[in-house]
Amino acid sequence: MSASFQAPKGVPEYLPPQSGEFLAVQVALSRPAELAGYGYIELPVFEDTSLFARGVGESTDVVSKEMYTFEDRGGRSLSLRPEGTAGVMRSVIEHNLHRGQLPLKLRYAGPFFRAERPQKGRYRQLQQVGAEAIGSDDPRLDAEVVALADAGFRGCGLTQFTLLLTSLGCAACRPAYRALLTAFLVDLDLDEATRERARLNPLRVLDDKRSSVQAQLGDAPLMADHLCQECRQHYDEVRHYLTVMGVAWTEQPRLVRGLDYYTRTTFEFSHPLLGAQSAIGGGGRYDGLMAALGGPEVSGIGFGLGVDRTLLAREEEGLPALAPPLVTAFVVPLGPAADDPCVRLVDRLRAAGIATTSTFGGRGLKGSMKAADRSGARWAVIVGEDEVAHATAQVKDLTTGEQHTVPVDEIVEVIHPGAIDREGGH
Ligand code: HAM
Repeated sequence: MSASFQAPKGVPEYLPPQSGEFLAVQVALSRPAELAGYGYIELPVFEDTSLFARGVGESTDVVSKEMYTFEDRGGRSLSLRPEGTAGVMRSVIEHNLHRGQLPLKLRYAGPFFRAERPQKGRYRQLQQVGAEAIGSDDPRLDAEVVALADAGFRGCGLTQFTLLLTSLGCAACRPAYRALLTAFLVDLDLDEATRERARLNPLRVLDDKRSSVQAQLGDAPLMADHLCQECRQHYDEVRHYLTVMGVAWTEQPRLVRGLDYYTRTTFEFSHPLLGAQSAIGGGGRYDGLMAALGGPEVSGIGFGLGVDRTLLAREEEGLPALAPPLVTAFVVPLGPAADDPCVRLVDRLRAAGIATTSTFGGRGLKGSMKAADRSGARWAVIVGEDEVAHATAQVKDLTTGEQHTVPVDEIVEVIHPGAIDREGGH
């Protein structure tokens, strides 16, 4: 016997009915950005490797350890996209989108790839909903972007997450802070690998999870205390607008993101019930990214929200299903005379926007009713010889067990309010 195939390690699959929840979460996370005028952009799933090396940062784990990189037949080095922002910037520059109306607002959704060690909530193919607002450093735009992410999670029903917020400064104040932090780290008792990390990106040492390291970081200087006048004022205004919008946050001056491009406003959404993989989304400003990719000096801010982890967080919070059942009506033909009328009825219900299926293979009443129950449909529509003769059907409400004889022409009216009840009833 040959071994059967399995999906690649660390790659989740979403099968019905859970896949309905996946799609509903993707839509709910995108909806606030859609309502704020962010246009959809569909991007390549692979790009030039150097785009990510330059955009995301050569020293990040994402680029140095986790990229799926391959050579195409022409000898070019390509990588599966580990994140979305670099690709959006590449596309903006390539198509001169920044020459149009600013801010340019774009959103996207789809799979990203990181060769991480798989565990619950950490996958090698991960799904994000993202948004990017390009070409304005108005703090009101920062607040809008943060609020849209917050609204996306709330639209999925989540209530227990925390928004962690900080400012990472700019090209004017970050270098001085970095020097200060480097000088502080030099005096600590660190192993050689950590010293090397401190040389490449001292901020990342603040994120070291080991208690032996954390114990030494209590007095480490924080960016938040060393912002320049402009960054301080910008951050104050961002927080002002968040307050105006009723968005709650927690200051997290030690917030360290896994990507190198962040400046000023930086944030992460953390869910306390998810254990080690608690980040359900994150983002921030990246004012130097466009220029670093060979484009003009145009600023930007955006977010990436994790669809997989949002699904897990919804489970942990015990939330009811977001998506309606696959079908609302289940049509049961009894006897050959009912076949043609039922084919027409199924068509008619679907044309009226009622998700409908039917039994196949001539199953009897008992088997058909069992199938109707299993399908999740609220209504069974049963047609036997009598019903064919009178142009009626038995319409049974499977939630209450109530059953009525209904003229075929009136079935849509009987079922439709129920269909709306179920979809709106979460
Ligand atoms: P990120 O923080 O690397 O940001 O990823 C965003 C979200 O994607 C995370 O908070 C998490 O929910 C989810 N995620 C990341 N890696 C995994 C994984 N291995 N398994 C499951 N979920 C994962 C970015 O990607 C930035 N491009 C966001 C951004 C947009 N910043 C500015 N604009």
